[in-house]
Amino acid sequence: MQRLRRLRRTESLLRLFTETDVPARALVPAYFVVDGAGIRREVPEDGGMWQLSVDQVAIEAARAREGGAEALMLFGVPPEKGLHHAADPNGLVARAAASLKGSGITVMADVCLCSYTPDGHCGIWRDGMVQNDESVAHLAKMAVMLADAGVDVVSPSDMMDGRVATIRKALDDAGHPYTLLMSYAAKMASAFYGPFRVAAESAPQHGDRRGYQMNPANRREAMREIDADVHEGADLLMIKPALTNLDLIAETRRRYDLPIVAYQVSGEYAMLKEAGKSGRIDFPRAARETLVSIKRAGADLIVTYLGPEVWDGKVRL
Ligand code: PBG
Repeated sequence: MQRLRRLRRTESLLRLFTETDVPARALVPAYFVVDGAGIRREVPEDGGMWQLSVDQVAIEAARAREGGAEALMLFGVPPEKGLHHAADPNGLVARAAASLKGSGITVMADVCLCSYTPDGHCGIWRDGMVQNDESVAHLAKMAVMLADAGVDVVSPSDMMDGRVATIRKALDDAGHPYTLLMSYAAKMASAFYGPFRVAAESAPQHGDRRGYQMNPANRREAMREIDADVHEGADLLMIKPALTNLDLIAETRRRYDLPIVAYQVSGEYAMLKEAGKSGRIDFPRAARETLVSIKRAGADLIVTYLGPEVWDGKVRL
């Protein structure tokens, strides 16, 4: 008989033979930059997503850094809709990024139009669909503006075709050859983004995102999406949501040597939080288990809303 339980006899042995650790630096918190001053509010209630005014971003970043974070992700929530805000060099994310210069933290920023278009789509809607190439031109301008503002990693989450190559070329042409490009390579049209769309004020006003985000049923197509982004020049590959796509994370880990980032999205956080609040699960332990599983599948980094609870000591890694 193989006595595998020998490895589990004492607390010390359990610690000694732990195969997967989640270092604090693997967690990337996300913040939503809003207009105003002195604003620091969780949206929706207990949603784990923080809306911050520009002046609060550096304060929160310092907290994250103390907790062991090495990077953060910024999303912009403009005071009113309008495509011109997306690439505005005086926009909220540009100002937030500028406030982090010299802080030592790696600044990642979202590149997408959904918080800026009047109808909440991730690109420009015309003739019954989101127009691909026209949207990509706007995304490239937005990416260059963010790099100009000092963002280290631009992160297109729109799922248009060809945007990685176009953004890479635009960055290089603008004198930003070292700006990293993290593509949401396989992003599903998921029901788990609901709370985010409240925080980012980005819910589509008509239709849905299935014409550009992926069908969650498709593994082969996901690998084609990832392959396309690798060949177009992505430095980092994002897979999203995390828990429903562990197979894709594992497969990507086997096939490619690029760093992999998984996004534990707002609905994943909501499930943990609400089940914890009603007493059905032990929130800190369940939260930890999800992070370990995502890491074990092969992710290097995890964008997550659990960060603040990790550095407050509520969730232990
Ligand atoms: C915007 C974007 C979304 C998320 C990240 N970037 C929403 C969407 O695609 O509708 C979701 C993140 C989350 O739910 O935490 N394109």
